[in-house]
Amino acid sequence: MTDIHAQKILVLDFGSQYTQLIARRVREAGVYCEIRDYDISEAEARRFNPRGVIFSGGPESAGERAAPAPPDHLYALGVPILGICYGLQVMAERFGGKVEASPKSEFGFAQVIMESQCRLLRGIEDRIDLDGRAQLDVWMSHGDKVSRAPSGFAIAAATDSAPIAALADDERGFYGLQFHPEVTHTAQGQRIIERFVHEICGCESLWTAANIIDDAIAMVRDKVGGDRVLLGLSGGVDSAVVAALLHRAIGDQLCCVFVDNGLLRLREGDQVMATFAANMGIRVIRANAEEQFLEKLRGVAEPEAKRRIIGNTFVEVFEREAARLSGVRWLAQGTIYPDVIESAGARTGKARVIKSHHNVGGLPETMKLELLEPLRELFKDEVRKLGLELGLPYKMVYRHPFPGPGLGVRVIGEVRKEYCEVLRRADAIFIEELHRAEVYDQVSQAFAVFLPVKSVGVVGDARRYAWVIGLRAVETVDFMTARWARLDVELLEAVSNRIMNEIPDVSRVTYDISSKPPATIEWE
Ligand code: XMP
Repeated sequence: MTDIHAQKILVLDFGSQYTQLIARRVREAGVYCEIRDYDISEAEARRFNPRGVIFSGGPESAGERAAPAPPDHLYALGVPILGICYGLQVMAERFGGKVEASPKSEFGFAQVIMESQCRLLRGIEDRIDLDGRAQLDVWMSHGDKVSRAPSGFAIAAATDSAPIAALADDERGFYGLQFHPEVTHTAQGQRIIERFVHEICGCESLWTAANIIDDAIAMVRDKVGGDRVLLGLSGGVDSAVVAALLHRAIGDQLCCVFVDNGLLRLREGDQVMATFAANMGIRVIRANAEEQFLEKLRGVAEPEAKRRIIGNTFVEVFEREAARLSGVRWLAQGTIYPDVIESAGARTGKARVIKSHHNVGGLPETMKLELLEPLRELFKDEVRKLGLELGLPYKMVYRHPFPGPGLGVRVIGEVRKEYCEVLRRADAIFIEELHRAEVYDQVSQAFAVFLPVKSVGVVGDARRYAWVIGLRAVETVDFMTARWARLDVELLEAVSNRIMNEIPDVSRVTYDISSKPPATIEWE
């Protein structure tokens, strides 16, 4: 079988917000890569054995005394290096170039003009100008710039405000770009990354969904042997992909527990059972625990207390169900690569330990099971591609994220069964209309919130006091910041009319126009 990790790229992180994006673009080019701190040791770099290295951008100024710089042993590895933004500047400084603060920062679109031919950029252009020079539309985001090229490097490209926008040393395979090829605003960015990893570093496209699946299956079979594996199924993408993957790898040795906590979306429990148990033939135990969860949540209004109760009750139910299974040695989890990176700590925490992350609650620590994490090398977009390749329905794979505590944090204040029922119906109408208008995939997350406020309405001649539903839809890349979605008013009107006509307990619908920050995406 092909070793899909054999030809790989090392991405060194200098603290750029785009570091993960660089890694994702390399993976999209079909090449495996990992992110490491910029001060990687020589032993680790040699053990990793990359075919090429990429230096990310960073917030620092290359000319400052304490500015982070890559260790010299990297330049002696004998493999090509691509420095991006700050990565270009530290490389320029190292080889005798000069870096200066620009009088003004450059942020946004720019046009670079090719000054000389180099292997990295040759033939890659958006247009040819009247003087016959190749031009590229790129994304810039920098304060400093290289003002004198280091010896051995040719100036490959320039802009008006950055006369040294690209440096090239074809002989050693060292390149630097002041602009960001990893950002989609740089139209030819992916081609530049592909040129680097394929032609300059000589990596083949081995990192494909089909190959990743074969590799993961072999790894799981090798590790698990004839043992049984337990998986908590939440209905979310990650655990769904783990289930499909493990089922393909070990069939009936996989047993899933799905905890129906009564805080799920409309018909969600039945959908999970239909997809996994009925269609795919996976062993799934459904624990109907609605009453237990609602009983524990009775009278509790504080959001963090609700989260704790839901998390603890989940563990209780999960352990109870798991205890009924015999011979289980492994607990599978849907940990993905960003969780691994974040828990490793961007700069200081060198230990590559994993946080006890679980989509649906805390980890059952008392169970003494070994962890199986077949997605821990993958980014979310790769997990989704794997899901489709494994035959999961598109709608499940591209569903908006749903918080572990579910409707428990979308019913504001005390959670009651009748509130959840109203909310479930309102939420389903909203999502249905988003699909009908074909905007579901354009927003990152959309849902309804139940507000326990009695608001007045009229039915015929009578005044009627009923509950309020809030609608929330946001656009975001990383869920750390978000912009409220500018949904079409006709669509909002259709949703609001349907909710008030079809659910008698609702007298008013509002649309949330708060962005994050200062608001959060969820209401609690
Ligand atoms: P906020 O509301 O903090 O949410 O802007 C950011 C993202 O995280 C999700 N979220 C949660 N997910 N358990 C989860 O598993 C939680 O307690 C939780 N709270 C918020 C939220 O849905 C959004 O995608």
